[in-house]
Amino acid sequence: MSVTVRVPAKVNVQLAVGAARADGFHDLANVFLAVGLHDEITATPAEELRITCEGPDAHQVPLDRTNLAARAALALAGRHGLDPAVHLHIAKDIPVAGGMAGGSADGAGALLACDALWGTNASRAELLDICAELGSDVPFSLVGGAALGTGRGERLTALEVGGAFHWVFATADGGLSTPAVYREFDRLAEGGGIPEPVASPDLLDALAKGDPDALAATVVNDLQPAALSLYPSLADTLAAGRAAGALAALVSGSGPTTAFLTRDAESAERVAADLRSSGTCRTARTASAPAAGATVL
Ligand code: C5P
Repeated sequence: MSVTVRVPAKVNVQLAVGAARADGFHDLANVFLAVGLHDEITATPAEELRITCEGPDAHQVPLDRTNLAARAALALAGRHGLDPAVHLHIAKDIPVAGGMAGGSADGAGALLACDALWGTNASRAELLDICAELGSDVPFSLVGGAALGTGRGERLTALEVGGAFHWVFATADGGLSTPAVYREFDRLAEGGGIPEPVASPDLLDALAKGDPDALAATVVNDLQPAALSLYPSLADTLAAGRAAGALAALVSGSGPTTAFLTRDAESAERVAADLRSSGTCRTARTASAPAAGATVL
């Protein structure tokens, strides 16, 4: 018997970052949008906890207990006094270390898969609690759709989305470490006052209306200058996407994946094709949003 769970990637349409807190994290106003690129996590009973991974970037995924999927299984088993004897297989399609919450997706997916496999029947509140322990973005991977994340991003309020948004994601060679990007944010912000992060009413309104032009006019990522500072050639990718007709171009989360909002599915295909031939990225893929959260198949 085995259980497979499908989990979406995310893009941050607004990532407002406050000053570093005493615990090293940053308070955020983080507007998450789940997008239709997915990982699938399959849990099967085994002699002991084991992780395997398949997909073009599988060699970059750690297979030890630092993997969020392993940590999710250990956390659930620990709380319920169970032996975490499970094989977790990750079919990976979300870019690794790309700023699209691929690791968080695997954590949320493994948690839901183990809960179903072991019959622990954890409540939604307990699952969200474990997700928040695993990482700031993991609760959103569980719920999907669109949500405002406050605190370090883990406290979620669901948001209304009035229509489909069509995106292109350009992957880059190599990854960026999220802590390194936040450190660079701190370095760049040194000396200046950092305002309290607040969600933009205009952006929430654009999401609720399903209006791509209004969303394009309001998307903002406070981590973008830090990501560009560590990975300067991303500016060329952003420029290539804008030249190809994207309504908006931004770094996805902490990067280095770049995200391009387009008017419809057709223009997304055109922008993706132009980006692929631009020589400024590894490849470009289209995906629409919002996507559902972690789902047992
Ligand atoms: O929560 P998560 O483990 O995904 O965070 C990874 C790293 O990103 C943290 O160790 C921290 O350096 C940085 N971070 C932050 N503020 C947040 C979220 C993450 O500084 N709100």
